Amino acid sequence: MNASDIETLIQRWDGEEVIVRYDRPAETWMFMAIHSTRLGPPVSGGTRMKSYDTPSDALRDAMKLSSAMTNKLALAGVSHGGGKAVFAVPRDLDSEVRAGLLRRYGTLLTQLGGFFLTGPDVGTSPEDMDVIAETGAPNVFSRTPEAGGAGDSGPTTAAGVFAAVRVTCEWLFDNPSPAGKRVVVQGAGSVGRSLIAMLRDAGAEVLFSDVDDGAVRRVRDEFDVTFVPPDDVYTTPCDIFSPCALGGILNQTTIPRLTCRAVVGSANNQLDTDEDAQRLRSRDILYAPDIVINIGGLMGIIGMETEGWSRREAFTRVSSQVDGTLRRVYELADAEDLDTHTAALHIAAERLADPPDWRPVPRTEG
Ligand code: PHE
Repeated sequence: MNASDIETLIQRWDGEEVIVRYDRPAETWMFMAIHSTRLGPPVSGGTRMKSYDTPSDALRDAMKLSSAMTNKLALAGVSHGGGKAVFAVPRDLDSEVRAGLLRRYGTLLTQLGGFFLTGPDVGTSPEDMDVIAETGAPNVFSRTPEAGGAGDSGPTTAAGVFAAVRVTCEWLFDNPSPAGKRVVVQGAGSVGRSLIAMLRDAGAEVLFSDVDDGAVRRVRDEFDVTFVPPDDVYTTPCDIFSPCALGGILNQTTIPRLTCRAVVGSANNQLDTDEDAQRLRSRDILYAPDIVINIGGLMGIIGMETEGWSRREAFTRVSSQVDGTLRRVYELADAEDLDTHTAALHIAAERLADPPDWRPVPRTEG
């Protein structure tokens, strides 16, 4: 990849705008991809921090994640535009360097005047949101409770995925309860851990995998669930495979190896390409689209922080949102002979054409 690839990527993208900065002290490329203001501003999306092989890989990720946000928000009836911030760090940053980067980002968000609304994503935490918000930056969500935020967005994200597990069990097995069903959870981060707890409490047989030894140890200490080595995660026979780590893991190499009845997980952009939805369908594996079922982090946290929802109310609202939309998706896919991802995109397009009206964070005056 060379620099001109970034030009090509931006030129071919169907999104509206990319804000680019090279942060010298942290040796970090910062890309903010603003996919759509159709339902905004604000334009909402997480802030991701990760190492990439090249800056263009990071930009490509930001673009893809940001267009998924547009569809995700539309599907959930949240009247915000879709965006994503991706920071391509050269390595794990030392804590002072990291804080400096986050503070400079805070200044940028202030300059944008609330136009971009953000929260934690892969590689960032509520503590990071505190650092950003301390600069006075507006619309920074999911800060720690000590700083006045609603904290970790993992549990409400998991609530949405759990609701999707129930809809999927009902669709496939005529009974929404996951009791006795075998679920393999890939990724024991903040969503994975909460989901494991909910599934286990509901009587499912839970297996899990993670590439991080510390995360594996924590889950093993906390719950009585079986560890699956990362290499076996796709081939372990189960009813439901639940990807809760990184995207792109449903592809032409992994799909032929899957031995599950359904895929229901929280990771963003699970499908490597849109054709992978068709690949899953040909194998008769029901796919609960990520853009339908992983809205719970953003929706729950924003509801708690701006509408005064209790945690319990956030769980209920997220669950019923995901339940309703996922049923529509399964029904439409069935009726129109579509894969479920395409069916979800149809519904998103409908809502983008006729905007929903829940705008929990108001438009900023430009
Ligand atoms: N990571 C969240 C997502 O992908 C982003 C987010 C979380 C935004 C919490 C706001 C609050 O949807």
